[in-house]
Amino acid sequence: MSQTPPPEGLVSGPSALDAVIDLQLKAIHSLGSNIGAHIQHLEAKVEKLGNPSHTSAEASKKRKRATPELPQRILDAILSCGDNLAAQMQDLDAKIDQLVDREMARTRILVTEAYNKRASDYDTASSFHRRLARRYKEYVKPKAGESLLDLACGTGQVAFAMAPHLQLLGAGVQPGRIVGIDISSGMLKVAKQKLQLPEHLGHRIQFLEHDITKLHEVGELKGMEGAFDIITVCSALVLLDDPVEAIRHWATYLKPTGRLVLDVPHPMAMLGVRVLSKIAPQFGVDVLGNREWISGPQSLTDVLESAGLDTKVKETEVWSGVPASTDYVGKLKKESIWTSYEGGPIFETMTKRSSAWECLGENEKRKARWKFEDEFAALASEDGCVKEVNKLFIGVGVKRWSVVPTPRPS
Ligand SMILES: C[S@@+](CC[C@H](N)C(=O)[O-])C[C@H]1O[C@@H](n2cnc3c(N)ncnc32)[C@H](O)[C@@H]1O
Repeated sequence: MSQTPPPEGLVSGPSALDAVIDLQLKAIHSLGSNIGAHIQHLEAKVEKLGNPSHTSAEASKKRKRATPELPQRILDAILSCGDNLAAQMQDLDAKIDQLVDREMARTRILVTEAYNKRASDYDTASSFHRRLARRYKEYVKPKAGESLLDLACGTGQVAFAMAPHLQLLGAGVQPGRIVGIDISSGMLKVAKQKLQLPEHLGHRIQFLEHDITKLHEVGELKGMEGAFDIITVCSALVLLDDPVEAIRHWATYLKPTGRLVLDVPHPMAMLGVRVLSKIAPQFGVDVLGNREWISGPQSLTDVLESAGLDTKVKETEVWSGVPASTDYVGKLKKESIWTSYEGGPIFETMTKRSSAWECLGENEKRKARWKFEDEFAALASEDGCVKEVNKLFIGVGVKRWSVVPTPRPS
């Protein structure tokens, strides 16, 4: 296989580098083998690394080092490829996989730590999650004997709300299997304790500690692909790095015509946290949440449909007492309507509680406040007001008969 040399003088500046990469990629795409597809796959990964949702200071530094390096690596691989282009690309692919895996592992540690800390008062700090679990019942429409896989089950709010409907005690109907999976041992401990309460006696719910993006590793789910009537993922999709990939993975555990029910916040919900998580990576601070992909109900429809599910998404009413709502966190106002210049005090109130933001030097903290103010003001409508809309989009995806589970790489 011959190789197109880079045009003279084009390898100096960043835009020249881009031009060379473009030329080389075009040349390789035109080879017509599946190397083109392979490169697209690589490019998607590079893009993902370049658009992180949130991260730790350490991971953020790593990425800053790694991301600019990646196009150069692609270029190096292409320029040096000679005849073994495919092998070079595989090597590059493996290296990028390692980087992505490291980022994802970091997110999982952050989530686990955050929810282990919140576990003891998760159920009592607000009634929101209990109310939302009850609402899930309307969307799920559970029937006696159906099986449920409650992913990111936390303290079991959804599983416990569904249990009386799936496991009709003494009615002669075989009780449906209920499995709850979560990564936080603290949340699961609370869930297991609740199994002992008189109102849950007789219900059998299996709580398992695991990452919900790697269900194929869960021994108890071996052979359970295509076996569940219902999968629920309540208040958790935005905590995952790659929602599309996660939904595809979960869909493999649904029976044909089985349903997956999940929710995401309205783009104007919980604005303080939204803006904070957007600016956090620039300052090396961890703020959980990956919401920038949500611009309306269609965003959720798109991710569910891309997993081969027939989808309906509904917008809920405005919820009160949402734990991460801006007025709740800051207790600055009764109404969630702000003037565009109120970003500063909101930033101060929200970051006061966090040692990560407090640890920033004075200069950096000031820069972060300015950035927050700009991003917050950018959310204002024409009347200059920023209005928090604590609504949710709840999606129901139904698996088609024709969808064949995609095998996972071992
Ligand atoms: C806001 S809580 C929701 C809990 C529960 N579904 C409810 O509605 O109350 C989010 C939960 O997602 C879990 N979680 C986030 N990422 C996870 C992952 N990759 N694997 C397993 N659990 C995860 C957290 O540990 C936490 O318990």
